[in-house]
Amino acid sequence: MSERAHGASGTRPESARRCYRPRVDEPIHADLLPLAFLLGRWEGSGEGIWPPGEAFRYGEEMTFEHVGDAYLAYSQRSWSIDDEKVLHLERGFVRSGGDGLVELTLAHPLGVAEVAEGCVRDGVLDVTAAAVPRARTASPVTALRRRIEVAGDILRYELWMAMDGGPPTRHLAAELKRVDA
Ligand code: HEM
Repeated sequence: MSERAHGASGTRPESARRCYRPRVDEPIHADLLPLAFLLGRWEGSGEGIWPPGEAFRYGEEMTFEHVGDAYLAYSQRSWSIDDEKVLHLERGFVRSGGDGLVELTLAHPLGVAEVAEGCVRDGVLDVTAAAVPRARTASPVTALRRRIEVAGDILRYELWMAMDGGPPTRHLAAELKRVDA
């Protein structure tokens, strides 16, 4: 499988750097305070692997913004370090379930959705999607887990994935810096 595995095409448009819009002029919803450390636009790079393929490096940007309601809107794009071609995109939402519970609902271009639950504590968010709804022609992803850790303006994450009911394997690890609060 080539580095175009995720069905995306084209290069990262220059306008991507300008598309971040600060959230509406509302105070953050009280339920989101435990997740407020995620807010902003982040840029960085990561390394991934999916055996038997070779390890690859990628650039990445993500934004978490609030709109005054009890969820964060999340957007991500990643591209090849070598030629800037888009590798993977994510769109979705993060919700607080109260008492440290957190819910992540994402759509992926591979035809799968990620509905994950877990906890948030001390700047660490750890969520697992035990069931992954898939379209008929989607890649057979059967589980996903993410661990995101924020210390100040540095965000590090790891993502593990299982295919066809196999064991979870680490697919990604990255480090990003907050470039816009
Ligand atoms: C920053 C985000 C991501 C990047 C840059 C990325 C990049 C890649 C690349 C380059 C490959 C091909 C590896 C190879 O064949 O050598 C790959 C494989 C794969 N990725 Fe990702 N990925 C990302 C996130 C995800 C996520 C969130 C999912 C699941 C929802 C996912 C699902 C897959 C699957 C299923 C394959 C294997 C395809 C196959 O061999 O059938 N990836 N990824």
